[in-house]
Amino acid sequence: MRAYVLERYGGPDGARLTDMPAPVPGPRDLLVEVRAAGLNPVDFKFREGKLRAILRPRLPFVLGNELAGEVIAVGRDVTRFRVGDRIFARVAKDRAGAFAQQACVDEAHAAAMPGNLDFATAAAVPLAALTALQALRDELGIRAGQSVFISGGAGGVGTFAIQIAKWLGARVTTTASKRGEILVRSLGCDEVIDYTTQDITRLGRSFDAGFDLVGGATLTQMFDIMKPGAKIVSVAAMPEPQTAIKDLGGRRGLAALFWAISLGIRARARRAGVTYRYLFMHPSGRDLDQLSGLIADGKLKVIVDKTYPFEAIAEAMAYVESGRAKGKVVVTMQ
Ligand SMILES: NC(=O)c1ccc[n+]([C@@H]2O[C@H](COP(=O)([O-])OP(=O)(O)OC[C@H]3O[C@@H](n4cnc5c(N)ncnc54)[C@H](OP(=O)(O)O)[C@@H]3O)[C@@H](O)[C@H]2O)c1
Repeated sequence: MRAYVLERYGGPDGARLTDMPAPVPGPRDLLVEVRAAGLNPVDFKFREGKLRAILRPRLPFVLGNELAGEVIAVGRDVTRFRVGDRIFARVAKDRAGAFAQQACVDEAHAAAMPGNLDFATAAAVPLAALTALQALRDELGIRAGQSVFISGGAGGVGTFAIQIAKWLGARVTTTASKRGEILVRSLGCDEVIDYTTQDITRLGRSFDAGFDLVGGATLTQMFDIMKPGAKIVSVAAMPEPQTAIKDLGGRRGLAALFWAISLGIRARARRAGVTYRYLFMHPSGRDLDQLSGLIADGKLKVIVDKTYPFEAIAEAMAYVESGRAKGKVVVTMQ
């Protein structure tokens, strides 16, 4: 089968389209004919070797973290799916493999595709929408009437986060440039701050919760606009000990490393009276079922910026890497 494979860590030429043997499903796996796969910043960060402290698969390694497709075989212990089902999934992080004509998916990570989506649109959902749901519902515990500040609302995660925060009943403020403003407003955002011209610390208001998709100076400034006792969840800045304990299986060595590298951010949070948490999202078929219901009910729109043929995946990756995508980027297989 054709697959987009990481051969060595580093720049774009470390990965290429090549022929690989098809994967063999284990007892709890679905073997999926991949019809489309979504791209995410984690794909190029992984290629660059930035996740090596967490994930160290043997190379060559088939890249790709989310897919939509048709089940063509099932392992002997699979109970929820059958051959012919149309599923979508965020695949296991240490397994990946979505950028290929066939992939194995643990049935616990898969959900039935919403009936109103085609494969390309469904493939854009799992990773970014699960991240937004798990951050806003589980980590921030957003309740109706709260005010939420979301940095970077125009990208893959942001376009879902705005809608999910609205669905939870929050008032939503986000940052976007002029290029993304119309899009984020169309998703129901109450207030848009143009990050290229406006300083968020001069808004003169404070928020009940923050969801950071940008990191760096943006996150630092977010500490100044939170109410005392508020919480900021970031998926773009520095991991902290809870990331290792809650999200990465309680790895003590990693917790110590994350404790050290997050000293500065945690001190900044303490001074602001804010809790800081870095979330590493997890695959979940159950959460995807909930998102699927929201999509089928018309409560959650999927924004696909660009779709490329699989053979042009390097170009698709370069576009994601440019950091300018509005919503999601997808490749489709024949
Ligand atoms: N920890 C986790 O589990 C997890 C999960 C998912 C994603 N992430 C991370 O979360 C981050 C966002 O992911 P994504 O998929 O949403 O990325 P993305 O789709 O590549 O985001 C691109 C968007 O970000 C906007 N943007 C760029 N710089 C900005 C700034 N300074 N302020 C506001 N907006 C800005 C761009 O708008 P303009 O072009 O208009 O500037 C563009 O529309 C990435 O770092 C990703 O790795 C982490």
